Amino acid sequence: MEYFISDNIAKINCLIGTEIKKLISEKPNAVLGFATGSTPLGAYKELINLYKKSEIDFSEVITFNLDEYVGLEQTDPNSYRYFMDYNLFNHINIPKKNTHVPNGCAADLQHECIEYENMIKKAGGVDLQILGIGHNGHIGFNEPGTPFNSITHVVDLDERTRKANSRFFSTVDEVPGRAISMGIKTIMMSRKIILIVFGEDKADIIKEALTGKITEQVPASVLQLHPNVSVYMDDKAASKL
Ligand code: GLP
Repeated sequence: MEYFISDNIAKINCLIGTEIKKLISEKPNAVLGFATGSTPLGAYKELINLYKKSEIDFSEVITFNLDEYVGLEQTDPNSYRYFMDYNLFNHINIPKKNTHVPNGCAADLQHECIEYENMIKKAGGVDLQILGIGHNGHIGFNEPGTPFNSITHVVDLDERTRKANSRFFSTVDEVPGRAISMGIKTIMMSRKIILIVFGEDKADIIKEALTGKITEQVPASVLQLHPNVSVYMDDKAASKL
């Protein structure tokens, strides 16, 4: 596991952008795995900057997002499809058909999960997966207790996760109780993982995840078993390591 720690978040986002730019220049049809949440927003802005400076061409890139709420339409500003369009895809030259986010409004959610997993396989697997981490150690929407051999599945969201994510909704009751998420095994099959962690409030969980026991109770602890992870952290998140 490689660590990049800095008190300069802009510099961290720049490094992440450079790593993605290098991958796409070597493999123009790279498969990228994207995450939502506030943490990767700066890195996405950096990708937009690089595109505007003609330093990255996304025309052949394929993307798969980690997760989506069940029951939110793609046009709902709180859906992760909307988040990705608004914060990244609408500003770069990626064909929309190359961007994949699970459909949380599918009539048959189990079928949607199987199809999503198959699409990732058909695309050749994820070359580089961006990850954030939840306060309870979740990655994607894989809550504590999720089996390490899980593939794309429907999950019941932890109350702590719903509360944390309620900042984007009017009330906590509006936060959907379920989501579709790539499984832990799906994430672990990515050839490279970039984990981004910012803020003092993540210091305890990231210490537990990266240096503690590898356990399904702390989903991100599985990353200790992955051969190619880079962790980008600000000094506050790293303060307890
Ligand atoms: C959500 C997403 C995760 C993300 C987490 C942390 O639950 N499903 O992929 O890592 O939020 O979000 P933030 O980066 O806003 O702390």
